[in-house]
Amino acid sequence: MGEQTKFATKLGIIATTVGSAVGLGNIWRFPYEAGMNGGGAFLMVYILCVLILGIPVMCAEFVIGRRSKSDTVDAFRKLAPGTRWHYIGYIGILASVLILGYYMVISGWTLEYLFKAFTNDLAGKTAAEFKAEQNAFIQSDFRPLLWAYIFLFINYIILSRGVQKGIEKMSNILMPLLFVILVVFCVRSLTLPGSSKGLSFFLHPDFSKITPQVIIRAMGQAFFSLSLGMGILITYSSYFNAKTHLIKTATTVALLDTSVAILAGVIIFPAMFACGLNPATDSASVVGPDLVFVTLPNVFNQMPVSTLWSVLFFLLLTVAALTSTVSLFEVTVAFLINYMHMSRKKATRIMMLIVAVLSTIFSLSIGSWSQVRILGKTIFDACDYFSAIILLPVGGLLISIFIGWVLKRHISREELTNRNKLHEPLFNAIFFSIKYIAPIIIILIFLSGFGII
Ligand code: PFF
Repeated sequence: MGEQTKFATKLGIIATTVGSAVGLGNIWRFPYEAGMNGGGAFLMVYILCVLILGIPVMCAEFVIGRRSKSDTVDAFRKLAPGTRWHYIGYIGILASVLILGYYMVISGWTLEYLFKAFTNDLAGKTAAEFKAEQNAFIQSDFRPLLWAYIFLFINYIILSRGVQKGIEKMSNILMPLLFVILVVFCVRSLTLPGSSKGLSFFLHPDFSKITPQVIIRAMGQAFFSLSLGMGILITYSSYFNAKTHLIKTATTVALLDTSVAILAGVIIFPAMFACGLNPATDSASVVGPDLVFVTLPNVFNQMPVSTLWSVLFFLLLTVAALTSTVSLFEVTVAFLINYMHMSRKKATRIMMLIVAVLSTIFSLSIGSWSQVRILGKTIFDACDYFSAIILLPVGGLLISIFIGWVLKRHISREELTNRNKLHEPLFNAIFFSIKYIAPIIIILIFLSGFGII
């Protein structure tokens, strides 16, 4: 990777990194995890995970990426030559490829619904019709795959144009658009009659729901949402410049990402209540894909100018998904460019093929192959659990051990203070969290979540 591979502007650095973080995890996954697992209590555990684990681990990834200026495997080779620490990079690549496989399928669904919204095919249907149509769609063999391949192709166009002209340019345009749509939705949702009931459902803390398993899920959600533990931020920060203030960038990204997750809840639940749907008594309405692909279209249908709201919402989801999938691809593309000395176009094409095959398997595992089970779960759910809930925190654990215990402390100090140019009062606290708090807490959460303590 040549020295010239850099993000061009400060805005580009924030837009691309926030673009990776803000995705289906915020708008689709976070609201239903929170809604099902204690509302405000889940939110508190989640915010603690972001503060205590997320920001320090993000800083750790930034140190590795900007110092080594390399892909996620080679970064560890450069910083700890002759050791096996670069296996962390391979874990990251495995997690990215697995996540890409199923993320692409759901991204394809968002395209189908965007298309339906545009062609006014969502208007005038009942909840039962939405449910039946959605089931038929996701279980069919061909159509979901077609959309996943189209989404893959859009990724290809962006990735093959490179870091500045592809990834950065896309993020600079799409991220502001995403925030504008979010704000418009927020105003709409909060001005609906009866919306306050939805807010109190979302934010009311129910501590009786907080179990060790729920804490594990909140931790996994925090890692997933912040795109941590898999080398994405190592790769992106290798494109940062020497002036980038790493701690400030990590805090800004965490803050924006968490705000979008909360905003999504603030939009979704009041709108549901205003339309007479109560997630507490109708728990099926907020489970998994149903929340955005069945319940919300039904909610929009009960508002004036429903087509406009459906189009805007599915555009929001598509934009969020696209900036995230591009970042997942970039980890592997950067690795192939460096390691196999491939051109960017060739590396991107190879990754497209691999992900196309995986997406095909994941998509079919919901329909024709749904009888195939791994530990009682469909292939799709098993891979989601294994990659998001297990691999990402394990990656985060190893990364924090590497920075806290293996890499010389002065290197982290140099990176986090821009070679002592910044007065950084938070350095000691962040380093302490990376060295002690993050590893101990991740291990404790795993042990209790799996019933070992
Ligand atoms: N952070 C993205 C989201 O919340 O949807 C998804 C994601 C992107 C997860 C990149 C993991 C990742 F490495």
